[in-house]
Amino acid sequence: MANIIDGKAIARRFKDTLKEEVNFLKGRSVKPGLAVVLVGDNPASLVYVKAKGKACEEIGINSFQYTLHKDIAQKELLWQISELNNDAKVHGILVQLPLPDHLDEELILEAISPEKDVDGFHPVNIGRLVIGKPLFQPCTPMGIMKLLEDTGMELAGKDAVVAGRSNIVGKPVALMLLHKNATVTICHSKTLNLREKVKKADILIAAVGRPHMIKGEWIKQEAVVIDVGINRLDNGKLVGDVEFEEAQKRAAFITPVPGGVGPMTIAMLMHNTVEAAKRQSSGYR
Ligand code: GUN
Repeated sequence: MANIIDGKAIARRFKDTLKEEVNFLKGRSVKPGLAVVLVGDNPASLVYVKAKGKACEEIGINSFQYTLHKDIAQKELLWQISELNNDAKVHGILVQLPLPDHLDEELILEAISPEKDVDGFHPVNIGRLVIGKPLFQPCTPMGIMKLLEDTGMELAGKDAVVAGRSNIVGKPVALMLLHKNATVTICHSKTLNLREKVKKADILIAAVGRPHMIKGEWIKQEAVVIDVGINRLDNGKLVGDVEFEEAQKRAAFITPVPGGVGPMTIAMLMHNTVEAAKRQSSGYR
């Protein structure tokens, strides 16, 4: 039976350390600040934005939340971002995704100063990750790497399978695993024989966003399974991308849904915000 990776407890430890760091910074008159921009009223986004604000409050980070009308003109949103880029109290800027269709997501993300891009989505930050010289790294993949680290498993030389190729999770986590010398296979909706690929995985990152798409019997004995999926079934139950019950019988370690990856994403966002504040206050690069 697999060990359950307690993401909530691991995130708590990170946040406790950050709280101490924030107290130290405040002694030097630096109060980290995070601006969260939400456009429209997507219900899932509202939940995430609220959770981010609450985490800021717990840790002592200044939280500036902007809720903008769903029909906001692109140039108005760009103006708002440029105001935040120039605001010294704001060290980190996050624009909650997805954006309404009339807004050009790429253009909006590129408008955020890379120095304040605590989501790690700016092309400069993605490029830095590719070459192994990261500034800010995307929060969910970073959280996944911390969970893997916590298992104590050596990643070098292992077969890692990433199911999902999004810019937010799949692609960046594949790069991070590569930098740890894992042998990485990225699978996606056009992959033939996903089952055979998953069966060979010592490390499986499931980030496809489809409930129970990865069957428990595909999991390799003693694998480490990280399930990024948060899918709500018609009966209201939250489930991951992996069939948990069956997978648990085979894996050495597995994340639960909820309580696995989710809490780590927010802890990493807080980490990036504190790092941003430190860099912007000391001239450190
Ligand atoms: N939407 C889903 N995940 C994320 C995330 O990590 N950051 C932002 N900004 N939006 C998201």
